[in-house]
Amino acid sequence: MPLRAAYAFLLYTAVLVLPVGALAVSADADEQIVRGEYLARAANCMGCHTAHGGEPYAGGRRLGTEFGTFVAPNITPDPGTGIGNWSRDDFWRAMHHGRRADGSPLYPACPYTQFTQATREDVDAIYAYLRTVPAVDQETRGHDLRFPASVRPLQRVWQRLYFEPGPFEADPEQSEEWNRGAYLVRGLSHCMACHDARDRFGAPRADGAAGGHAQGWYAPSLRSSQEAGLQGWSLEEGVALLRGGRSGDAAMMGPMADIVHDSLQHLTEDDVRAMTEYLRSLPEQEVTTSVRGTTVSEGRLDELMERGQAIYENRCMDCHGTSGQGTVAASALAGNRAVMLNDPTNVIRIIRDGGYPPSTEDNPRPFGMPPFPDLSEADVAAIVTYIRRSWGNDGASVSTATVGRTR
Ligand code: HEC
Ligand code: HEC
Ligand code: HEC
Repeated sequence: MPLRAAYAFLLYTAVLVLPVGALAVSADADEQIVRGEYLARAANCMGCHTAHGGEPYAGGRRLGTEFGTFVAPNITPDPGTGIGNWSRDDFWRAMHHGRRADGSPLYPACPYTQFTQATREDVDAIYAYLRTVPAVDQETRGHDLRFPASVRPLQRVWQRLYFEPGPFEADPEQSEEWNRGAYLVRGLSHCMACHDARDRFGAPRADGAAGGHAQGWYAPSLRSSQEAGLQGWSLEEGVALLRGGRSGDAAMMGPMADIVHDSLQHLTEDDVRAMTEYLRSLPEQEVTTSVRGTTVSEGRLDELMERGQAIYENRCMDCHGTSGQGTVAASALAGNRAVMLNDPTNVIRIIRDGGYPPSTEDNPRPFGMPPFPDLSEADVAAIVTYIRRSWGNDGASVSTATVGRTR
């Protein structure tokens, strides 16, 4: 029976071949999900889309900005309260064009203005990964924004004025490594979303090196080595800072400690090297941030410095050294660029609230900076002014009023 034999043969091969084909498909799918998880790490989607102590990606985290407070939405596959009903194309439109599934514009509080540089392949991988996280039924609608930011359709106007969808264009003059770094830094890792200044409409300002603001901190510019730039750093030092959270006098603090902890330390060494390579190559630009807040008059300066010195000797010297040179317990304040930034916000916050560099594989148990809640605003102005102007440091003085406004 040749026909039967043929059938039998077909069936037999189908049985043999199909599972192999299915296996190949599912291996591809697994590979895509693993890649998606990695890319979601690189973009730190979880950092914003997870409330403190909440379920991963279930939203609810409140993000304060100068336009009001955003509540990050639930992006788990729950169909009712998450993005379970979003198709792959819907998701691509969100990441690439800044459109939600219903066609309305997204706020750039979700950094689609950077994510737009990501390839379709990478965005699809993130989508595939997000389909696999546990669905959580949790309503997260309702930002608390001021007019006119509160009118979502106006974002369409904003997009028309300030937003151009990607994709990333590789620079053929540069190495593959540099291009990989540029792709991550400008795109999924959205470094410039915090580190570049914006004007009062929230549009990127393009005048030299001026940093941005994030969660009540100043994010110094990556375009100048006087701020947060890695120009002039060795590749090794830069990689150590980005992956380990500390290098030389620099320590990642505040929101940056979270970025290292939640995102950068999980990236491959190759990717962090590529990012460092790209950052090192950014053209050095002149710092254009003006001194924030008010300074004190020449006449009051001596008094303030004396008061600051007394506090330093009492409260800081044991850890930061007799002349700010640092000890094993804490970094140098002398020559430390983070201390001298024109915007003193971070220094004021660190002294008042304390904080830790991130715990990472390279530096699993970082020493912490203790908080000093008992220092009065005048004391903080004195100690900040003192460390900004001693041992060769040439930062601007800081008034009590400026400390008072840094809340
Ligand atoms: C800096 C914080 C932040 C990061 C990082 C971030 N998001 Fe968002 N995301 C938000 C906020 C805030 C919104 C709400 C925006 C709005 O209402 O227009 C949002 C909205 C969204 C939406 C639309 C959901 C809806 O129901 O309308 C999706 C999808 C989304 N984000 C996915 C992602 C993915 C994927 C990543 C990582 C690649 C990511 N986000 C990273 C803050 C963030
Ligand atoms: C959520 C906002 C935010 C994002 C996103 C962000 N940063 Fe930062 N970054 C900050 C803030 C705030 C500081 C200042 C605090 C500090 O000095 O650690 C900072 C500091 C830094 C410093 C300087 C540390 C020092 O003391 O010299 C470097 C370098 C840096 N960031 C690199 C990056 C890179 C690279 C990325 C992208 C992978 C990135 N940042 C993404 C907010 C951010
Ligand atoms: C118990 C030790 C200790 C004491 C006391 C202490 N610090 Fe710190 N400080 C640290 C550690 C640890 C860090 C985290 C960065 C690092 O690893 O060096 C830090 C960070 C800082 C930073 C941020 C440096 C940067 O690169 O971002 C400043 C500014 C600072 N301290 C100032 C002070 C001042 C002013 C006092 C006194 C009022 C003080 N510290 C007292 C341990 C200490």
